[in-house]
Amino acid sequence: MTTLTAAPAAFAATAPAPATVSTTRPAVRVLTGDRPTGRLHLGHYFGTLDNRVRLQARGADLFVVIADYQVLTDRDVADDLPGHVEELLLDYLAVGIDPERATIFTHSAIPALNQLLLPFLSLVSVGELRRNPTVKDEISHSRQASVSGLMFTYPVHQAADILFCKADVVPVGQDQLPHLEVTRTVARRFNNRYTEPGSPLFPEPEALLSAAPLLLGTDGAKMSKSRGNAIALAADADETARLLAGARTDIDRNITYDPQGRPEVSSLVLLAALCLDRDPVEVAHEIGSAGAAALKRLVTEAVNGFLAPIRARRAELARDRGYLRAVLRAGNERAGAVAEATLDEVRTAMNSRY
Ligand code: TRP
Repeated sequence: MTTLTAAPAAFAATAPAPATVSTTRPAVRVLTGDRPTGRLHLGHYFGTLDNRVRLQARGADLFVVIADYQVLTDRDVADDLPGHVEELLLDYLAVGIDPERATIFTHSAIPALNQLLLPFLSLVSVGELRRNPTVKDEISHSRQASVSGLMFTYPVHQAADILFCKADVVPVGQDQLPHLEVTRTVARRFNNRYTEPGSPLFPEPEALLSAAPLLLGTDGAKMSKSRGNAIALAADADETARLLAGARTDIDRNITYDPQGRPEVSSLVLLAALCLDRDPVEVAHEIGSAGAAALKRLVTEAVNGFLAPIRARRAELARDRGYLRAVLRAGNERAGAVAEATLDEVRTAMNSRY
């Protein structure tokens, strides 16, 4: 592994100004994560997982949070949490997140991270919490009769997820941008209120959006577990073929890549192109008048071919529970030590050391 002494050029457009990056820390620090609610799918893969692996390969110090408290934002109890945590961990390891280099942790296991929530909550107004568009959207889709305090405050908790390790870069999907704004606001206000000009405690992290446009599910709506339109990384080849065979297309027999005009067909073309690492316009052109059936055959082959090694690795890892537990224990230990150090600095900055 190469050790980076400064941010590589590839980070230049996304990393914050050098003044906010600790000079004692050699690698760019990246934090991202997911709620443990089930298996990850291809939308996650091309939306963020492949970015994580790419950043790791370039020497970034990668932190991945399994956001177990966040599961409780829109439901009363989290069903089968240990099972879902394990599924998520398996997906991470199968796609190539390397626990020797990356820190994978569950945020409920990191007391010092959670303690940051209290000072951070004092830095945002109730009005700001109410205006968060992603929270508003989640409330409108919530399965609860009333809205919990956690629903309104979880973006601030997410700021603690990101700031406890002073992440510089956060690879996320579009829907997470409001939360990243909250994080930046919290960092800026904390620095203004509690630190000397020129020596901020927290960097203002940058979002890193995937270059891949949004993937649609097999029904033409956004790919999502709860809609049953998603292809899970862990699904087998037959399940994948069945889902894609039932995918929505349109009446025009000639296949083209036109995401605006023909979203369903174009999303299938895009999925094939991403899996084959090819240009979607060319892929569509090659299928041309062979029609939707040929498109579905191609995309099924492309997806199953692409996922085969990931699925094989996942199945192998699933047989070693002891290893999985050890990975999480080591990640929680490292994240805990980092969080303690940050909380210590926060106490000093806030003049609350007694
Ligand atoms: N909110 C994210 C989601 O629902 C999960 C998450 C929790 C996260 N903490 C994070 C993402 C920190 C990025 C950074 O998918």
